[in-house]
Amino acid sequence: MAFERALQNLVSNAEKYGEDIWVSAKDKIDEVVIIVDDNGKGLPPALFEEVFKPFYRADESRNSSTGGVGLGLPIVRDIVHAHGGEVHLEQSPKGGLRAVITLPL
Ligand SMILES: Nc1ncnc2c1ncn2[C@@H]1O[C@H](COP(=O)(O)OP(=O)(O)OP(=O)(O)O)[C@@H](O)[C@H]1O
Ligand SMILES: [Mg+2]
Repeated sequence: MAFERALQNLVSNAEKYGEDIWVSAKDKIDEVVIIVDDNGKGLPPALFEEVFKPFYRADESRNSSTGGVGLGLPIVRDIVHAHGGEVHLEQSPKGGLRAVITLPL
């Protein structure tokens, strides 16, 4: 249930800050990689770690109507860590933001 919450948080961000959403999973030898992509504005790379801090919201989000308090990503990281995994952000090849979860098998 917690893991479902983590995925939900990433997908709702992609929905809120992007337009189209792509979710994919890759089964590797010793890990599973889950990727959520969107084609929104993305984030400057300098914020890829900042946004995992509780209550952090990028300037544009603060001033817009997207709502939210800035706890979605910190919760995602807590849950993923509790499952022994890692999560980070990258630039998406779709044009917006990419969230990558890696889980050990
Ligand atoms: N897919 C995305 N594209 C662009 N910016 C994003 C994306 N996901 C998160 N962000 C940025 O990271 C910030 C933190 O995200 P987080 O999910 O923690 O909080 P939130 O979405 O603002 O509020 P909530 O607590 O409702 O999730 C957002 O305010 C936004 O600035
Ligand atoms: Mg959020």
